[in-house]
Amino acid sequence: MRIVRTVTDLRAAVRSSERPVGLVPTMGALHEGHLSLIRSAREQNATVVVSVFVNPAQFRPGEDFDSYPRDEARDARLAEQAGADILFAPPVEEVYPPGFATSVEVHGLTEVLCGDPARRGPEHFRGVTTVVTKLFNMTQPDAAYFGQKDAQQAIVLRKLARDLDMPVRIEVRPTVREPDGLAMSSRNAYLSPADRERALALSRALRAAEEAVAAGRLDADDVLAAARAELAKAGVDPEYLELRSTEDLSPVERVNGSTLLAVAACIGRARLIDNTLLGGA
Ligand code: PAJ
Repeated sequence: MRIVRTVTDLRAAVRSSERPVGLVPTMGALHEGHLSLIRSAREQNATVVVSVFVNPAQFRPGEDFDSYPRDEARDARLAEQAGADILFAPPVEEVYPPGFATSVEVHGLTEVLCGDPARRGPEHFRGVTTVVTKLFNMTQPDAAYFGQKDAQQAIVLRKLARDLDMPVRIEVRPTVREPDGLAMSSRNAYLSPADRERALALSRALRAAEEAVAAGRLDADDVLAAARAELAKAGVDPEYLELRSTEDLSPVERVNGSTLLAVAACIGRARLIDNTLLGGA
């Protein structure tokens, strides 16, 4: 595996590699969720590029940009084992040189859930769509791989690629969980043992909602009550717990074939998100 740090070196490495090229964008602190994306890219492409870049533009002031876990040597080892050919690990100035002044914004999908101005806000997604646009232009991949764990991000990025006619296939892969159900996340490292236990309430809440739906309780109030009861048992007050259409993230009153149940909650120092698709979505 080659490690490259500049756009020029990345382009040269990609140009001398076979197509198709698959890109897995990450912020590092790699775990099984990231590795499943890399393996998926490996299966479908002749060349796999993994980017590791903690993107300052998607963190709000006061969020965990400075303390976000960074261990490039470990990431490089894990990425290579999972099948990466090229690791792109640029310094911040390579991505945002002095005078950088452009952003890319998807409207409509980015003002709800995590994009609600009272939460991370649309600026978070503007940071994501801007850096992903840049990573696509830098790498020019045939396909790019994202996790269902960040369901809203995946929906926003699909819309970005479609609206701007980006010649890249967006592939979304299932959420990878710990054996006890906790969705894997780089931010799980912030959890104390007691918080780690409370954090299980998120996946339990999603399972309770799935069971309600399986039992034929499809009204939003019933589904959300089942989920909320699990959160309450653990004393977790969610930042949001909402049913939304997977098409356009509009609110859903009754579970249908394309319904997303999404939850966010602060547990200790960690802000965690999780979701499930209900009703056969
Ligand atoms: P990061 O949080 O590092 O996640 C990189 C990719 O891994 C994302 O597509 C995310 O959805 C996926 N992922 C994270 N946890 C997962 C899990 N448990 N199961 C499956 N996939 C999982 O998301 C970002 O970085 C950034 O916003 C990025 C897209 C790289 C832009 O900066």
